[in-house]
Order: sequence, then structure tokens, then C-alpha cells
Amino acid sequence: MKNLLVELGERSYPIYIGSGLLQQAEILTKHIKSKQVMVVTNTTIAPLYLDTVLKHLADYHVEQTILPDGEQYKNLEFLNHIFDKLLACKFSRNATLIALGGGVIGDMGGFAAACYQRGIPFLQIPTTLLAQVDSSVGGKTGVNHPLGKNMLGAFYQPQCVIADADVLDTLDNRELSAGLAEVIKYGLIRDYQFFEWLEQNIALLLARDKAALAYAIEQSCLNKAAIVAEDETETGVRATLNLGHTFGHAIETGTGYGTYLHGEAVAIGTCQAADLSRRKGYLNDGDVKRIITLFTKANLPVTPPAQLDTERFLDLMAVDKKNVDGKIRLILLNKIGQATLPNYIDPELLELTLKNYGRQ
Ligand code: NAD
Ligand code: GLY
Repeated sequence: MKNLLVELGERSYPIYIGSGLLQQAEILTKHIKSKQVMVVTNTTIAPLYLDTVLKHLADYHVEQTILPDGEQYKNLEFLNHIFDKLLACKFSRNATLIALGGGVIGDMGGFAAACYQRGIPFLQIPTTLLAQVDSSVGGKTGVNHPLGKNMLGAFYQPQCVIADADVLDTLDNRELSAGLAEVIKYGLIRDYQFFEWLEQNIALLLARDKAALAYAIEQSCLNKAAIVAEDETETGVRATLNLGHTFGHAIETGTGYGTYLHGEAVAIGTCQAADLSRRKGYLNDGDVKRIITLFTKANLPVTPPAQLDTERFLDLMAVDKKNVDGKIRLILLNKIGQATLPNYIDPELLELTLKNYGRQ
């Protein structure tokens, strides 16, 4: 087992990465300081892993909230189901919430924990690759609004993250690839060696080679933990984790939540960001080709949906948490392995990317 630390002073917490972690009661129970425990999960994950977690909690008063499965339920209405259950069970302010699932459950469970009685402790048990390498680490929690992705939320750190690579055995191939989009992101924004490693090992990752997956999860979490430790609330470098996300969120919102997986939308958005970086003179044609080739080899889409034209993209991109005074801000790449957040994006260049990249 690898044990990384997200260093945030008194709110520091460990990320456990390894195989068989869910079978070990102590990893879980040492982070639970209350008798009352609420497990939040969904209808797909509950039959797979809920009993494994519950068997360690026989000495606790455990309740469950089982949400429907899907990005389209990541909203205030279904967040309220968690509050309904916490209140109906008369859970106190020291109760512990466990988010058992992918990024949707982690974001919703974390946000519920941040709000309930102004904040109760919570644990992340991420069950998708995407959640293990990204969403469970760093304390971004929240839900979507029909007009904008992740527009309602809070920074709220968990007590620990338990990333058991064995749970990825039941993940389907499309979801595995979606997780790889965020893995590739770390190579692109700050870790050129890791990007090269990914170019060489992408087939092993798709074949679910355990050692390769463990390495990719660890490298991703190391990169994410370092960024979060430096900039917990995204006043600077943390924004680079949003490479491709402004385009990607526009794709998710514009096509209807759940049509594209988050990682798929991020893959397309990152290729658009690479195209714009080339137009800005940062990347060359060869760099852009390398990036598109890696996403393609990871079985991810790389061209934007035809239904979103330039005008619609710009309208959707105007709702983004990085925007300042209503102006679109985008993460670009200076080179592979180094992200940048330019103060000014030339509207003409952005329009050229939106009009031309990936269009027939
Ligand atoms: P998800 O949570 O929807 O999970 C994907 C699918 O896999 C779901 O159908 C789920 O039920 C299923 N699943 C989960 N674990 C499984 C397992 N072990 N075996 C079989 N099926 C399993 O999607 P995701 O890709 O994990 O997360 C995407 C969400 O994460 C988006 O809402 C995105 O906005 C958010 N996100 C948040 C952050 C953050 O920093 N908070 C970062 C990146 C993404
Ligand atoms: N996934 C973006 C962040 O955690 O900041």
C-alpha cells in the first residue's frame, strides 16, 4: 500500500492507494470518530461494494442513502435526498459521511457533508479511475445547475481517501478511458516524464495491468496533492487542473448531462485547448498531434459534437468559475508538461479554434 499525504496543516489527510484496501477494516474505522455513519452511494455501486464496507461497521449506527446512478442526478434535488435521510435519522453534528462511488457520489456526498449542520466529517472511497486520480482528492465538492456544470459547491476536505485499485475490475472500458483523460492531464500540465510514460504504457493501462494502473494512480495523486497543498482554494496554480475543462463543461452542459462522460468531454476540450495553444504560438503541430494521438489511443473522443456551434460554445463558456468580470479565461499549454493561464485570450483565436478544430 502507498500512503500519500495531502498537506494542508491541521486539515491534512492521507490518500491510501493499493489492492485489497476495502477488505481492511482498520483503514476505514480509524478515520471514523462517531457512532453515527451515513454511507452515500448509488444503485450501481451498492450491490457491488456496499456490503464490503458495511461489514466493517457492525459496531456503528449505520444508515445508507442510495441515489440513482448518473450525472443527470448530480443536482440540488437529489442532494436533498441525503439531507432528508440525515435529518430523518436524527444524525448529529459529529456524524460521519462516507462517499462510496465515482466522482458524482464523491462530489455530492462531500457537498452534503460540507452543508449538513455547517459541516460533518466525511471519507472518500472512490470507485472509478477518475475519482481515484482526481475528484476524491482536494476537497472540491458540489452539484450541477441546468445552466452550468459544478456551479454550486464548496471546498471541503475529507478525512481520508481510500483508493482500492481492485474495485476498478468491475468498471467498464468506457469509464476506464474517461479516467485516463484526467491522468493524461497531469502529464500535460506539469509532468513531462509522466506524459512520456503514458505514451509508452497506454496499452498496458487499457489492458488493466495492475502495476501500470497503480503507478498511474500514484503519479496522478502525487501531482494533484502537490497542487492542492500549494493552492487549496484555486487562487492560482490549481486552475491549471482545469485544462480543457471550460470547453469540456460546455460540451457536458450543452449536450445534456450524462451524454458525454466527464472524462470524454475533458479529452475533447483538451484537444481544443491544444489547438488554441498552437494558434497562440505556444505549441507546434507536432505537439498537438502527440496530444491527439494519446487521447485517441486511450479510446477517447477528440472532436467536438457537431450540434454545438461556435456561438453556442461561447455562450456556454461564459458560465465558468475561472471567468473574471464576465471574461473567459482558459488554461493553455506553453509546452507539453507546462500549463499556463494567460490573462487575455484573443477572441479571434478562440473563435478560430471553435470554428475549425475537429470540424469537417
Ligand atoms: P460517475 O461517478 O458517474 O461514475 C461513472 C459510472 O461508473 C457510474 O455509472 C457509476 O455508477 C459507475 N461505477 C462507479 N464505480 C464503479 C465500479 N467500481 N464498478 C462498476 N461501476 C462503477 O463518474 P466519474 O467519472 O467517476 O466522475 C465524474 C464526476 O466527477 C463529474 O461530475 C465531474 O464533474 C466530477 N469531477 C470532480 C472533480 C473534483 O475535483 N471534485 C474532479 C474531476 C471530476
Ligand atoms: N479537478 C479540478 C480540481 O480539483 O481543482
